[in-house]
Amino acid sequence: MKIAVLGTGGGGRAHAAKLHELGHQVTVGTRDPEATLARTEPDMMGNPPYRQWLADHPGIPLATFADAAAAAELVINGIDGHNAVRALTALADQLAGKVLVDYAVPFIYNPDTEHPWPTPWGVMPRLDPVDIDSLGEQIQRALPDVKVVKAFVTQEQDTVVSPRAVGDGDGDHTMFIAGNDADAKQAVTQLLKNYGWSDILDLGDLHAARGMEMYAHMHSAIGFALGGHFGIKVIR
Ligand SMILES: NC(=O)c1ccc[n+]([C@@H]2O[C@H](COP(=O)([O-])OP(=O)(O)OC[C@H]3O[C@@H](n4cnc5c(N)ncnc54)[C@H](OP(=O)(O)O)[C@@H]3O)[C@@H](O)[C@H]2O)c1
Repeated sequence: MKIAVLGTGGGGRAHAAKLHELGHQVTVGTRDPEATLARTEPDMMGNPPYRQWLADHPGIPLATFADAAAAAELVINGIDGHNAVRALTALADQLAGKVLVDYAVPFIYNPDTEHPWPTPWGVMPRLDPVDIDSLGEQIQRALPDVKVVKAFVTQEQDTVVSPRAVGDGDGDHTMFIAGNDADAKQAVTQLLKNYGWSDILDLGDLHAARGMEMYAHMHSAIGFALGGHFGIKVIR
């Protein structure tokens, strides 16, 4: 399948590499390919410059967000959460009618908060929107012709594409999805199965994106406590 991964961060790279390995025709999207390839410093999260990653992953083209989305049948959103609605709204024509898998968290970094939460990687970002709205719903409202599915967001970049890397290799943990279109969720479920997920819990329509995004703080807290990769399992 022709898939666009919009985003050159650690998550976007992980999805692109896995989809390429699975035999999909993947294009990564960025604001300005030349500028992205010219970078020589690690990104905000410490990922090496994109050019360095690309040298280890030949055969994955880099294009503008618009060109990548236009050529794709299915699109994955890995654009920084705070900028995602604006960036995706500009792609309304290229995205129309397509499935858009959104894994972004609406983090605002370095917030000036009354009660900052110090973490190993600085003050915990603030969530906005939160509680009574979500980024997934904002994207869906901004792009009514697009089938938005919230998924991947409750896992880290290394384990989302390799669930069996957690739990002594059995990978028996739970992946959540939500969205308003049943066929779109079916397509994403198939993708997740190809990644190796077996316990995929459909949380219903996109309202559930609120809980999935708000879980980010809990996921961080568990990660700080354990100091390593983990998954969560819903015991029915
Ligand atoms: N990485 C993970 O493990 C993980 C797990 C779950 C959820 N998430 C969430 O998923 C989202 C993506 O995460 P990530 O780590 O893959 O990447 P990221 O570093 O959060 O975002 C990188 C992407 O955002 C784009 N971007 C940044 N500022 C922009 C702006 N002003 N306008 C348009 N685009 C802009 C960058 O464009 P350029 O390519 O042009 O630089 C780049 O493609 C985030 O919301 C993150 O919180 C990440």
